[in-house]
Amino acid sequence: MISVIVAVAENGTIGDKNRLLWHITEDMRHFRRITTGHPVVMGRKTYESLGRPLPNRRNVVISRQDLVIEGCEVAHSLEEALALFGADEEVFVIGGAQIYAEAMPVADRFYLTVVEHPYEGDTQFPAWDPTAWQLVECERFERGVEYPHPFRFETYERKIK
Ligand SMILES: NC(=O)c1ccc[n+]([C@@H]2O[C@H](COP(=O)([O-])OP(=O)(O)OC[C@H]3O[C@@H](n4cnc5c(N)ncnc54)[C@H](OP(=O)(O)O)[C@@H]3O)[C@@H](O)[C@H]2O)c1
Repeated sequence: MISVIVAVAENGTIGDKNRLLWHITEDMRHFRRITTGHPVVMGRKTYESLGRPLPNRRNVVISRQDLVIEGCEVAHSLEEALALFGADEEVFVIGGAQIYAEAMPVADRFYLTVVEHPYEGDTQFPAWDPTAWQLVECERFERGVEYPHPFRFETYERKIK
């Protein structure tokens, strides 16, 4: 099973200058809880932005280059990355924009954090078709412990591929 997980500002921004634009402790915890124990697949730029493999997860980095990255497996396409895992495994595509654009059409589940505030940035989440997805869970927060704006966690299951 292929899952996409992302945090998107209300104007579609997901990052700027290869970093995130907000720090929401609750969202970091949500991400860790959902992905720990499962493989994570990411683009080379997202890997560089993280700076290290995520612990307790098999990390796969997608690049057209022949890279060797300690603690990670390197694949040359999304397809090659996904082929490393069986169908019974939930594989998380964790960004960035280039990899999300390829993964959304083939994903089965979509974990979306909507940050209810606009952010200026150079990287946007690709357009996606809401009619293809069924919202199955939604939890909203007026603010975080250390974050002043509202945000919500949504989970979608694919209706139509
Ligand atoms: N808000 C969130 O939840 C979230 C999550 C993740 C990332 N982000 C943000 O997103 C930004 C990074 O996204 P991005 O779109 O610039 O980069 P990215 O998708 O992380 O990585 C792009 C790189 O992936 C490789 N790649 C892409 N398509 C490929 C293909 N078809 N075949 C082989 N390799 C391929 C290329 O690596 P090579 O150049 O090495 O060939 C490409 O330069 C950052 O600002 C980051 O903070 C936000």
